[in-house]
Amino acid sequence: MNATTTYTARAHTNIALIKYWGKKDEKLILPMNSSLSLTLDRFYTETSVMFDEQLKDDLFLLDGSKEKNDKISNFLEIVRQKANITAKAKIISKNHVPSTAGLASSASAYAALALAASKAAGLNLDKKELSRLARRGSGSACRSIYGGLVEWQEGIDDQTSFAHPIEMSRDFDIAMIALVISTDFKKISSRAGMKRVVETSPYYPAWVQNTAKDLRKLKQAISKNDFETFGEVSEENAMKMHALNMSAHPHFNYLEPDSIKAMKIVEKLRSQGVSCYYTLDAGPNVKVICRRKDIQAIVDRLSDSFGQEKVLVAGPGPAAHLI
Ligand code: PMV
Repeated sequence: MNATTTYTARAHTNIALIKYWGKKDEKLILPMNSSLSLTLDRFYTETSVMFDEQLKDDLFLLDGSKEKNDKISNFLEIVRQKANITAKAKIISKNHVPSTAGLASSASAYAALALAASKAAGLNLDKKELSRLARRGSGSACRSIYGGLVEWQEGIDDQTSFAHPIEMSRDFDIAMIALVISTDFKKISSRAGMKRVVETSPYYPAWVQNTAKDLRKLKQAISKNDFETFGEVSEENAMKMHALNMSAHPHFNYLEPDSIKAMKIVEKLRSQGVSCYYTLDAGPNVKVICRRKDIQAIVDRLSDSFGQEKVLVAGPGPAAHLI
C-alpha cells in the first residue's frame, strides 16, 4: 500500500453527568461502572490521518507543532492490526477549544482519531465498532462518537463495552456553562487518579454500587423530562467522585478555592429559584448544568466574580463525523 487518501474527522467533547472513574481492565479500558454524558457543540477536535509506506515513524502534529506521543502510536497499532496494514501515519490534529479553556479533552481527540484513522486504513466500522475503538484510546472517547446524551455501557469485555445514544425528548432543555478556573495541566492524570482510588479508597465498592443507582435515576429523569432530578443526581454523582479522591491513599483532590467559590454561587442561585447544578471532572473547572432560559442570569453572576472571558456557554453537540 502506498500513500492512502487523507480522511478528516470532527468529534466533539463530552462532559459526564454520571462519571466513569475506575477501570476493571487497564489494557482494554473496561470501566468499573457505566456512565452517561452530554456531547457539547462548542468544543471539538478535527483530525486528519493518512497512512504512507514511505514514513519511518508515525508523525503527529498537534495545533501546528510536532509532538512525540506513544499513546497515539499504540492506538494506531490497534487500527493497523484491525486493517492488516503496516504503514505509518501522518496525523494532523487541531483542538477547537478556546485556548484558555483548559477543556481540551482526550475524549474528542480519540473519537476524531478513531474515525479518521479507521477510514484512512480502509476500514468501514459501524458506530458500535467505532465506539469500541475510540474507547481503547481514552475511555470517555467512546461516548464522543455520538451526539447529545450518551450512555457508555460498561460491558464485560472488549466486545460488550461501548456507548449508545439516549433518547432525549425534543423539549428536553439543557445547556452547559463552563467556568474556566485554571488552564494548568492536571495535577494527577485521570488515568493515575482513577487507578489510585480503585486500589486504595475504602469507599470504592460503595461508589460502584451507588453509581449504578444514580445512572438509573438519571435515565428515569431524562425519560420524564424532569430537569431538577436530572441536575440533582448529576451534581451528587460528581461530588461522590471527588469524595473518592479525598479518601484515597495518598489522598488528592482537583478542586481549587475558586472551584468552591463557583459551587457556592451555583447553590445560592438555586436557593433564589434558578434551577442550576454543577459538575467537575479531573480538574478545577466547574461546569454548570442549566436550562437555556437561565443561561443569561448564570453567565452574568459568574462573570461578575470571575470575568466574562472565563465563562463559556455550550449546548448539546453532534456525533463524530467526517468532513
Ligand atoms: O477518559 P479519561 O481517561 O479522560 O477519563 C475521564 C474521566 C472523567 O472525565 C473524570 C469522567 C468521565 O466519565 O468523563
